[in-house]
Amino acid sequence: MGTWRVLIAYASRLGSTCEIAQAIAQVLTRRGAVVDVRAVNEVEHIQDYQVVMVGSPIREQQWLPEARHFVETHREALRKVPLVYFAVSGLMSQPTPEHFHEVYQYLAEVRAIAEPLEVGIFAGLLDYNRLDHDQMAKVLSKGLPEGDFRRWQDIQAWAEDVADRLLLEQARRQAATSEP
Ligand SMILES: Cc1cc2nc3c(=O)[nH]c(=O)nc-3n(C[C@H](O)[C@H](O)[C@H](O)COP(=O)(O)O)c2cc1C
Repeated sequence: MGTWRVLIAYASRLGSTCEIAQAIAQVLTRRGAVVDVRAVNEVEHIQDYQVVMVGSPIREQQWLPEARHFVETHREALRKVPLVYFAVSGLMSQPTPEHFHEVYQYLAEVRAIAEPLEVGIFAGLLDYNRLDHDQMAKVLSKGLPEGDFRRWQDIQAWAEDVADRLLLEQARRQAATSEP
């Protein structure tokens, strides 16, 4: 297979989602992809990529507005490429099936715009010292605990599975275009 170019477009306010995007990029790079990790606001067009991943933390029970805006803006192009979403969440500090399901529901809006092949849902990081009064009130009202809950092994294992899935999808698409 030829060069496999992947865009990982992320939104992040306090950096934890950016670091997850980079960890995913490392795995895909090892699997032979050429990966660009970019903040959603820095991406102008996506036509150079065979695969697009979009990731954002959850705030107020949804992706950050800039991530939703990115999907809206590029909706036509995103519907044509293998697409992957991921969400980073405080709720997943307790990784119960109920919390997974709840966070998955938060993505209904972006999934309705462009349906991804895969969705990743990860626990994030909360540092109370970096929040202002309003943010602190929101976080406490939701009972979100302080700490770094990112499980790098789980993130890497997910990225490996996604790489398998994407390589199969690439092969499937190539076979479809080379049929007489
Ligand atoms: C003001 C605020 C609101 C948040 N709201 C939610 C929420 O509704 N649900 C959730 O699961 N996590 C929520 N979180 C937790 C974040 O998703 C988590 O801290 C994430 O790792 C932040 O990502 P970032 O460092 O890339 O900005 C909230 C965090 C903050 C600061």
